Amino acid sequence: MSEKGRIVAAALAPHPPHLVYAENPPQNEPSAECGWEQLRWGYEKLRRDLADIEFDTIVVLSPHWQTYVGTHFLGVPHFKSLSVDPVFPNLFRFHYEMDVDVDLARMMHDEAADNGLVVKMMENPDFRVDYGTIVSCHLSNPSWDKPIVGISSNRSTSYYSVEVMQEQARELGRITREAIEKSGKRVLLLASNSLSHRHFTTEASVPEDMSHEHIYNHHQYLWDMRVIEMLRSGKTQEVVDIMPEFIEQAVSESDAGSFTWLLSALDYPRFEPEFYAYGTVIGTGNAIFGWYPDSEEGGSPQ
Ligand SMILES: [Fe+2]
Repeated sequence: MSEKGRIVAAALAPHPPHLVYAENPPQNEPSAECGWEQLRWGYEKLRRDLADIEFDTIVVLSPHWQTYVGTHFLGVPHFKSLSVDPVFPNLFRFHYEMDVDVDLARMMHDEAADNGLVVKMMENPDFRVDYGTIVSCHLSNPSWDKPIVGISSNRSTSYYSVEVMQEQARELGRITREAIEKSGKRVLLLASNSLSHRHFTTEASVPEDMSHEHIYNHHQYLWDMRVIEMLRSGKTQEVVDIMPEFIEQAVSESDAGSFTWLLSALDYPRFEPEFYAYGTVIGTGNAIFGWYPDSEEGGSPQ
């Protein structure tokens, strides 16, 4: 391909399995009556906007594919299996089938290796894809008609320090953008993480009983609101700057590196993103945002 590739859309796309459970797609075995509508309606609006955009591949970094030696990339062209959430097997037993854009994955892998990052292609055909990747991809593109590039979280926040995570995620974001440009492809990026992430440890007898759903504590809510306001006003570099404090104080799932990676890949956009929803799931704070670099203001393409 001769044309320069680019990121045509990017989303903060959290992966609570509850959202898939409440949607009742045919792939999921359990069934629900309702639940977590604000977030599900937010994902609906994201999907409506993505329908107006042509893209070739979805690139997703998931906190639940955890690799302790370097960053790994899915490297098998097709996966089909059953994904069961280890914490919520009552909510998520999902029969998945997906194609992988191995060419683009390999380009990212090689570019990262050339820049000194520790990387590996995951080429085990029996590998079970993690539910974070599956949930974010399903809610963004339930038809599963696009191949994906799956990127692992190498857990450097817990294994080294939050500063090491930040440095590596920023570098991986830059490399992701450059590899996409060289590939000639049009790409949707997904950061698959919640914001604040302290959660309840017991479940209501009816999981979708929304009378039990609320933020875990006020302190956590204040952090989420601060980060959301900064994102809405285009202060993305500033969000990355306060990420270590946010991770420590709100136990944010952005400790996985996915959020820093996404903002770095977008080169810290200053334009106003599309803000689709905020809602809690078992007490965690979840926001859905979309960035559309090709549209005039960067927000919704419509
Ligand atoms: Fe998670």
